[in-house]
Amino acid sequence: MKILVIGSGGREHALVWKIAQSKLCDKLFCAPGNAGIAQIAECVNIKADDIPGLLDFARKEKIDLTVVGPEVPLSLGIVDEFAKYKLKIFGPNKSAARMEASKVFSKELMAKYKVPTAEFKVFDNPDAAKKYIEKIGSPCVVKADGLAAGKGVVVAKTVDEAKKAVESIMQDKVFGAAGNKVIIEECLQGQEASILVITDSKEVIALASAQDHKRVFDNDQGPNTGGMGVYSPAPIVTEELFKEILDKVIYRTIDGLVKEGIDYRGVLYAGIMLTKDGPKTLEFNVRFGDPETQAILPRLKSDLLEIMLATTEQKLNRVRNLEWDSRVCVCVVAAAGGYPGNYEKNKEIFGLDEVAKMKDVVVFHAGTKSRIVNDVGQKQETEYLTSGGRVLGVTGLGKTIKEAINNTYAAVKEISFEGMHYRKDIGAKAS
Ligand code: AMP
Ligand code: GLY
Repeated sequence: MKILVIGSGGREHALVWKIAQSKLCDKLFCAPGNAGIAQIAECVNIKADDIPGLLDFARKEKIDLTVVGPEVPLSLGIVDEFAKYKLKIFGPNKSAARMEASKVFSKELMAKYKVPTAEFKVFDNPDAAKKYIEKIGSPCVVKADGLAAGKGVVVAKTVDEAKKAVESIMQDKVFGAAGNKVIIEECLQGQEASILVITDSKEVIALASAQDHKRVFDNDQGPNTGGMGVYSPAPIVTEELFKEILDKVIYRTIDGLVKEGIDYRGVLYAGIMLTKDGPKTLEFNVRFGDPETQAILPRLKSDLLEIMLATTEQKLNRVRNLEWDSRVCVCVVAAAGGYPGNYEKNKEIFGLDEVAKMKDVVVFHAGTKSRIVNDVGQKQETEYLTSGGRVLGVTGLGKTIKEAINNTYAAVKEISFEGMHYRKDIGAKAS
């Protein structure tokens, strides 16, 4: 089969790496990909949000299955466009993708179907939003309705901070139309966990739990990032808690979507806060998590491509239980100097060859590019350069969390580029 993966981050490298292992995969493309992905798949220079370009390519190449990494093409309706040409594509359609593209839609669905979540109110008027903030006081959480590249949530410690967030979202329109509405919600306390399932609206298959580390510095300090590291499974999600999350969050949500006439096929990712009153849903994403995928897929023994095909055909009932490697997986993100603010680019990355020889370690590229050097002489060499904020996801397996942490950090220490920074405490909460 010919497969096309859309996206260019660490998540997509992990997807490409896993799909390439499938017996069903004969030819693998990635659009636009990165330097690590280019070692396994043929990268095509089409942007992830260029729906007509991707559609043309899939038609011309007769792609058997397209797998969508990021949320933007899903929210733009890539699945609906591909369906018009009977092209198979893994991911939810435009209507279903509102679970991530509109926080108002997803919160209202949660309220209607009694999915536990923070108390909230929706506003389309900034003055009314600010009045409400004064009434409930701080801390509180302000969320832009639409997609904001992970930056649309402000956990405000003071009333003033919350009001300023409303102003920048609704009046200064820092996220454009994504800020036409805001949600003001109760601030929850607890540890977070990511629960990802694959569903075809009839069946639900849960993936292993994971715990992301969103803050840039150790001990969860500093500004939020796209995710600085992750481990899977998350021992805080006990078997009992996992069942409770499936029952109260996942099944109720998917039942609700079905009742609303929405045909959801793909990954549904629930961000959960484990509060003292039980698990509560922070948000839904309609795609694989990044970096969760980098720590989940190395443990998955089953054929992911088979599962994805079954999902698109609404035949997930044919897939039996998933098989998992019992080892623990840790992924540490190596970020560029300055990230998550303005960051440096074009720094040469050293140590990748050494790490490639290490056992139980794999490096997923995110913001990287390559160039050929010494092409005048006989021997050509590839040089890797940084090109994004999150540069690499260094991933290691171990029998225990301690062993996985040691294996991963041993590899991280081999890698260097100017300005590189990473968290030193990934997995510490689980060990
Ligand atoms: P979201 O994009 O909704 O997951 O929000 C991003 C991050 O903001 C989450 O991972 C949490 O750390 C935090 N957050 C979101 N909603 C709340 C809430 N109601 N209470 C506390 N923290 C929250
Ligand atoms: N790990 C957070 C996300 O994928 O949105």
